[in-house]
Amino acid sequence: MERTLILLKPDCVQRRLMGSIISRFEDKGLSFVGMKLMQVTPDLAKQHYAEHVEKAWYPTLESFITGGPILAAVLEGLEAITVVREMLGATSGLKAAPGTIRGDYSSSRQMNLVHGSDGPEAAEREIALYFKPEELVDHSLTITPWSC
Ligand code: TYD
Ligand code: MG
Repeated sequence: MERTLILLKPDCVQRRLMGSIISRFEDKGLSFVGMKLMQVTPDLAKQHYAEHVEKAWYPTLESFITGGPILAAVLEGLEAITVVREMLGATSGLKAAPGTIRGDYSSSRQMNLVHGSDGPEAAEREIALYFKPEELVDHSLTITPWSC
């Protein structure tokens, strides 16, 4: 089992697409182990996008990601990091293939609805940025209704 961080970005929340996007991950069989609505501060944005802070387009990215509420979540499943990245599609909504989340919902290079960690180190670092360990649940403790 692997865990990965996703962010439903301000465009996703503003366009009332949270439910549709959450459904796609649930339909795929991934488990939500953490979830919260929050506002990204400029400081958190710089930590989250540390690899991009020096890029010419970073200021507009920071304005976008801090420009409204987001939903941060941790997803768990077999090869969850790769599975989520495949489901998101290419970074630009203009290039992402139909059938992917960005390909189906975005026509923008920046407003691409969902972030997903791009590897195991990023996932560990990003999950710790957004969640305390006690904010993540353990689905193995779920009592199945057919066991009573
Ligand atoms: P990146 O890490 O390259 O993409 P991904 O989200 O697929 O891992 O870039 C981070 C975000 O920065 C990306 O989701 C959208 C935004 N972005 C721009 O605004 N302009 C750009 O030219 C690029 C490459 C990304
Ligand atoms: Mg990235």
